[in-house]
Amino acid sequence: MATATAARTLSRAIPRSTASATPSLRLVARPSRDNAAKRFFQNSSRRQYSSENPTPQTPKSSNTGVIVGATAAAALLAGGFYYYNSQGGEIPEVHIKKGSAGETVGLLTPTNEDYQKVYDAIAKLLWEKDDYDDGSYGPVLLRLAWHASGTYDAATGTGGSNGATMRFAPERDHGANSGLKAARDFLEPVKQQFQWISYSDLWVLGGVCAVQEMQGPTIPWRPGRKDRDVAFCTPDGRLPDASKDQNHIRAIFGRMGFNDQEMVALSGAHALGRCHTDRSGFDGPWTFSPTVLTNDYFRLLLEEKWGWRSWNGPKQYQDASSKSLMMLPTDIALIKDPIFMKYVQQYAKDNQAFFNDFSNVVTKLFELGVPFESKPEDRIHFKSTHDAEAAH
Ligand code: HEM
Repeated sequence: MATATAARTLSRAIPRSTASATPSLRLVARPSRDNAAKRFFQNSSRRQYSSENPTPQTPKSSNTGVIVGATAAAALLAGGFYYYNSQGGEIPEVHIKKGSAGETVGLLTPTNEDYQKVYDAIAKLLWEKDDYDDGSYGPVLLRLAWHASGTYDAATGTGGSNGATMRFAPERDHGANSGLKAARDFLEPVKQQFQWISYSDLWVLGGVCAVQEMQGPTIPWRPGRKDRDVAFCTPDGRLPDASKDQNHIRAIFGRMGFNDQEMVALSGAHALGRCHTDRSGFDGPWTFSPTVLTNDYFRLLLEEKWGWRSWNGPKQYQDASSKSLMMLPTDIALIKDPIFMKYVQQYAKDNQAFFNDFSNVVTKLFELGVPFESKPEDRIHFKSTHDAEAAH
């Protein structure tokens, strides 16, 4: 049982729709820093990005003197220019608008600090809007970033997070993407506040923010994704089917270029969130702390006895002890397959090893198919609310 986590942050019982939830089950709804984090946002207006990172590339332009490069100037003359002053009123931003799909190109180099502001705005909303699901939009934000990225096909170079094509039918209506509108809508006010960021960068940044705010490892991130139109939607069937086995996992994630160890590390994301009968048809959370990232998914896989749940829904597993947790057939495949099993054991024993590998593999996932102009060493290490609180 996930006693360590349960003891750490029991905050609110969740009488959700889980048919089997016993009255004694309490899920961790919020990290224990809930109130502290809220106070933090009330008291502080600005944070720095991590000192591990290079200094911002360009001086911040002032309200009166916007520095316009040669390309932007040409676009201005062509009439394709507009000036946007962010709602915070702190940074004047310059866009060159192109096309009808909400693309912005040619932004005069936002700094790392500008991206930290976007991170902060998402984090603030995450802490404020705590009446969703188990108390956080974090899990569904991570799922949005993963489903945007996980359409990648290494052989053709198609799909991936570049494009944010899930804005459009048919991709937004693919069965696997059911429920992700909640995450897209959650991020919309942030897009309105920082209109210069592309949806595709924003969605992935949302995933990074979710992991870090749910006490996971730092996920280094860099911008460079451009929004693309409906023609770039990927065909249905590229995301995994939870009713399948290890061969399917290898086929789907192998197509993206992941090895066995990476597939297991990625699956540790199921420490977070839950299944919804009105989305996937499956039901329930994987762990007792669905809004805090831990290695409990791996521990529970090994330490619990898992049997088929008897119910009218799709075939899924249930734990013998509390009958309130679930595993998908693809989750159980990780302990049926001897090679996957080796990594499950490793991560169950060592949370730090899981965090290190998770950070690396999620960084890789989020960058699949993105034609970056920047280098890997330019990645930004965002400061989380917890880091910022600790520094105060
Ligand atoms: C074999 C691979 C995978 C399968 C079959 C799978 C399947 C699913 C299913 C069926 C759900 C429930 C959706 C719902 O009903 O709302 C879910 C939720 C989730 N998945 Fe996965 N998934 C896989 C891999 C991943 C990966 C690689 C990540 C991230 C790195 C991830 C992150 C999540 C999260 C955070 C949730 C919770 C969403 C929420 O609470 O709304 N999954 N997954």
